[in-house]
This record gives sequence, structure tokens and C-alpha cells, in this order.
Amino acid sequence: MNNSSDHSCFVRWFRDSTPYIHAHRGRTFVVSFGGEALTDGLFANLVHDFALLNSLGIRLVLVHGARPQVEQRMNARGCQMLYVGGLRVTDAVALECVKEAVGTVRVEIEALLSMGLANSPMAGVRIRVASGNFVVAKPLGVRDGVDFGHTGEVRRVDAEGIRAQLNQGDVVLLSPIGYSPTGEVFNLGAEEVATSVAVALRADKLLLLTEQDCINITDGRPIRQITTDESAILLQDKSLPNESIPHLKAAMNACRRGVQRAHLINRRIDGASLLELFTRDGLGTLVSLTPFETMRQAEIKDVGGILELITPLENQGILVQRSREHLEMQIAAYTVIERDGMILGCAALHAFPEEFAGELACLALREDYRGDNRGERLLEHVETKSRSLGIKQLFVLTTQTTHWFREHGFEYTDIASLPSTRQVQYNPQRNSKILVKRLAA
Ligand SMILES: CC(C)(COP(=O)(O)OP(=O)(O)OC[C@H]1O[C@@H](n2cnc3c(N)ncnc32)[C@H](O)[C@@H]1OP(=O)(O)O)[C@@H](O)C(=O)NCCC(=O)NCCS
Repeated sequence: MNNSSDHSCFVRWFRDSTPYIHAHRGRTFVVSFGGEALTDGLFANLVHDFALLNSLGIRLVLVHGARPQVEQRMNARGCQMLYVGGLRVTDAVALECVKEAVGTVRVEIEALLSMGLANSPMAGVRIRVASGNFVVAKPLGVRDGVDFGHTGEVRRVDAEGIRAQLNQGDVVLLSPIGYSPTGEVFNLGAEEVATSVAVALRADKLLLLTEQDCINITDGRPIRQITTDESAILLQDKSLPNESIPHLKAAMNACRRGVQRAHLINRRIDGASLLELFTRDGLGTLVSLTPFETMRQAEIKDVGGILELITPLENQGILVQRSREHLEMQIAAYTVIERDGMILGCAALHAFPEEFAGELACLALREDYRGDNRGERLLEHVETKSRSLGIKQLFVLTTQTTHWFREHGFEYTDIASLPSTRQVQYNPQRNSKILVKRLAA
């Protein structure tokens, strides 16, 4: 970083990431990646990114795959993995290869996570990695006459055991194998393990690192956000590249079973997970049960997010000061826009029922989310709520936003037209303009 423009870029970027850092701290993320990730030069960077997430207080469970490493060992023995109906058949030789490959891959990941060289991004980092028999498996058995041997499926996840490790600040590293109460080892799919673990932990996010972007074949464009219902339609339409199908299925299932958000992220883009998690629009595909941005009634848990949103505006004199206690007491009056765990906007409606009047207050949006009609949508929401309460006149007191309100149907009025209890609270020093909008029934 040589000049002042680099400095200001860095400062701006770092500040912009603050709300995401707040939103993600203490959350549980399960990340899965295929064995392919270990086979190119990007893997060390990916591990550094995991270390960074861990340092930022994110509770991390990593689930690795090992397919290329298993296939390499099979080929060396002159064998090939057999697939029937898209499922692997794991015979005794294949199981040996799985155990060898998984062991080697795990050791390599642990080694990278242990790195702390002074001249590397991992300098001073001390990450403890916990692996273990957290996944209980059962055999797939014989299906349509085919014996799948040591191929298994997840029977149970020891969520309590994993949580205990996460509570100590450890990164949990899981392999695509499971153990049965009979003492056998089963070959599992990394995505199935990741999904089952994310569901069992009720994780906040499942990050599926993929080998390519999730693109809709019909229009050739990357899918940025999608709900589980939309995913189901897309999977039926066959409008996805083959590689994306299992990932989107896993993401959809995880969200339907209680995981809040799943992200498909192209791991070939250096730093893709960081861009997805710490920038406004990310670059992966976000899958969620409900649309990922919602406008809803505020709850007590939103007070921190509202304060973070309005404090800079209070400091600029655009909004009046509101304490945490005030917000907690008045929370029922607030509506918020929430996006992926972050409060983007808010507005309050204070009703004066005897005078069929209401006051719109504390209308605010985060700076980087303005200009997309969210302000208008918040206003419409407050107007609808007002009408349902029999409010006929909606007032607003503002110092710097009069034109915005005038462009949205408000007209200037004077203090005498305010509800009487509100008149006595008017602060002449602030000298706010008073505007009113008459609401049609
Ligand atoms: C007022 C606010 C909620 C509007 O939200 P928004 O999503 O940007 O609004 P919309 O997308 O519906 O409208 C954007 C338009 O309003 C304009 N606008 C934004 N703030 C304005 C202001 N203070 N005065 C005049 N116009 C304003 C924008 O320039 C834009 O106009 P353009 O499309 O011609 O460029 C948002 O700008 C905000 O949070 N401002 C700071 C807090 C504030 O002033 N709150 C009101 C306190 S009473």
C-alpha cells in the first residue's frame, strides 16, 4: 500500500465489512469442499480464509471430500470405482483406498491449519483442529439386487460432541466416512455429511464450495439468490449444469430441514468465501427457505442492529437520539428490513388513536442500500399499518429530508396540526419541518 488512495480504499473496505463481521460473529458455519480443492495452488489461500473466519469468531465445521485421491489410489491398484444409479459401490479394495485417501487428505489439511510462519498470513494464528467419530453411519445395503458394500449413509450426528469442540474455539474437521455401532467404517458423500451436520447443529450457514458457478442454462446467467421452492422448480426443469445439481439439491434440503442459509460458492475464485460473506452482493448463489431479504415487525433481538444503523445518522443530526432502553420499550412500533441477518432499514409508527393520527419516525436505511426503493417500500408498509389502525393523517418531523417526503405525497403543515400530546414534545431548538400525508381509506 503506497499512496493515500490505496489507504482510503483499504479503510473504506475494512469499514464496509464491519456489519458483516458483527452479523457473523458467534454463528455456526459448515463448509464442504471436494478433494479437488487440494489438488491446485489455491488450497493454501482457502485454508488461510478458514483461519480468518475462525479468528473473526465464526464457529467452523469443515467437511472435506477425497474423490480424486480415492480414484488415484484405485487406479494405482488397477481398479476403478463402480457407480450404480449415481451411487458408489465400495468393495473391500475401494474401502482400503478410501481410508488411505481420507487419512492423507485430513493430515494435509491439519498441517496447513497448523501453519504459523512469521511471513505468512497465518503468522501468530493458533488453530486447534478437532476430528473424531462424530458421524454414525449405516450401510446403504442391497438395492435392486446390487450390494453397495461399504457405501453408507448418515444415521446420526453427534451434535453435542461437535458443539463441545466449537465451544472451545476449535475448528472441527470431518471426513466423508462414518462409523457404525458394529465397529465398521462406511464411505459417505462429503455433501451428505455436511448437510446432515449442518441440520443437526441447526447451523446458520452451509457453504458448499463448488468447482463452477451455479448458472441457469436457459439464460446463461449466474443464479444469485433462490428460494427452496424456486430451486425445486429449477431442478425439475433441468435448467442447471450437471455439476450444480447435487450442490443445489444439498442446499435445498439443508434449508428445508432448518439450516438458515446455504451458499454455493465457486472455490476456483480466490477469496470467494470472503467475498460471499463480507461484501454487499457476494458472488455465489444464496439459497434460503424464504426470500433472503424480508420486511417484518421488529423484535427485541433487532435492537442492536437498529442502533448500529441509526447511530451514524444521529451523529449527523439527521435523526434524534434514541437510547437502547427507548428502542426496547418502543420495539412494537418498529418495522425492519432484514437481509441475511443484517438490519438494513427501519421505520417506526407512533399512533395517536384519539386523533386518528400517526407519526412516521426513524425512517432510515444503511447508506449502501439506498436508492433501490426500499425507503418507499418502508413508507408504504407504514401507511398500510396506519390505515389498519384507522389513522387518517400521517405526520413526519424532519430536518434534512423534506424533499424526499414531499416527493412521496407529504405536504408542509404547522405545529398546531400535530396531535396535542405531540405538540408539547416538539423541540423548537431542533426546528424540524412538519409534514403530513392524508391517507385515503
Ligand atoms: C430517506 C431514505 C430512507 C430514502 O430511502 P431510499 O431507499 O434511498 O429511497 P428511494 O429509493 O425510495 O428514493 C431514492 C431517491 O430519494 C432521494 N433522496 C434520498 N435522500 C434524500 C433527501 N434527504 N432529500 C431529497 N431526496 C433524497 C435520492 O436522491 C433518490 O433520488 P433519485 O432516484 O432521483 O436519485 C434514505 O435516503 C435514508 O435512510 N436517509 C437517511 C435517513 C433519513 O433522512 N431519514 C428520514 C428522517 S425523518
